[in-house]
Amino acid sequence: MDDLIEEQIRYYRQRAAEYDATTRPEDDPFAAISAEARDALRRLAPVEHAIELGAGTGAFTAVVAEIARRVTCVDAAPEMLELNRAKVPAADVERVVADVFVWRPTAPAALVVFTFLLSHVPAERFVAFWDGVRTMLAPRGRVFLMDETRHGLWREERAPESGSETAYRQLADGRRFRIVKVLWDPDELSERLAQLGWEARLVRRDPFFWGTARPTSRRPPRRARRGATIASRRNAAPACRDAGMR
Ligand SMILES: C[S@@+](CC[C@H](N)C(=O)[O-])C[C@H]1O[C@@H](n2cnc3c(N)ncnc32)[C@H](O)[C@@H]1O
Repeated sequence: MDDLIEEQIRYYRQRAAEYDATTRPEDDPFAAISAEARDALRRLAPVEHAIELGAGTGAFTAVVAEIARRVTCVDAAPEMLELNRAKVPAADVERVVADVFVWRPTAPAALVVFTFLLSHVPAERFVAFWDGVRTMLAPRGRVFLMDETRHGLWREERAPESGSETAYRQLADGRRFRIVKVLWDPDELSERLAQLGWEARLVRRDPFFWGTARPTSRRPPRRARRGATIASRRNAAPACRDAGMR
């Protein structure tokens, strides 16, 4: 699995320069849906400190910087963060090149944001990921997340030899990489998060979903930590060449 995570990070490093044009072209058919999600994020204002995991080129960083006095953006791809800095030059945005599975903040934040990152978290790291996010949150803090759902509008090319969660991605120059792609149905995600001690409020607008999640306790129930994810069992799909592909 570590090899796959490393390959995924290499992919995003190489994809950085073409990421915006391929995910959000000028004629983006999902622009209105994305605007709805940004408005939902805006409604979480005001925030003192926000952490954005997998911030990428900054598709949501401007909104995070708008609602928070101070922002910490984390991404494993320095190329992504350079583009992020160019897009959101605000002085109160700190950028950290780090693996979100390892990185921990020096102080917890009122808001942790991750858009189109959760689908790149493998099932076997799902619990550890959310436990990590919990440690990043201040008391009464919350998460805002957005991702692709199981929509059926396109199908990614899968790499079944590397496990059911693995998809192939191709760059403009033809190079291919394997990445993790776990599509969540928001109801099933809410159910799974409830087992881990989170209360999620998610809305679905295919091909996406978004919303907030709050810990219901400081420590997750032990029983839930052993469960397999629903998404890992039901993940289906083959290669999107679509604007929705993150
Ligand atoms: C699909 S992009 C999403 C970017 C941005 N949040 C957006 O909405 O466009 C996923 C981002 O997560 C980053 N990423 C993937 N795995 C990571 C990891 N383990 N640690 C840190 N960043 C990671 C990638 O470099 C990439 O910038």
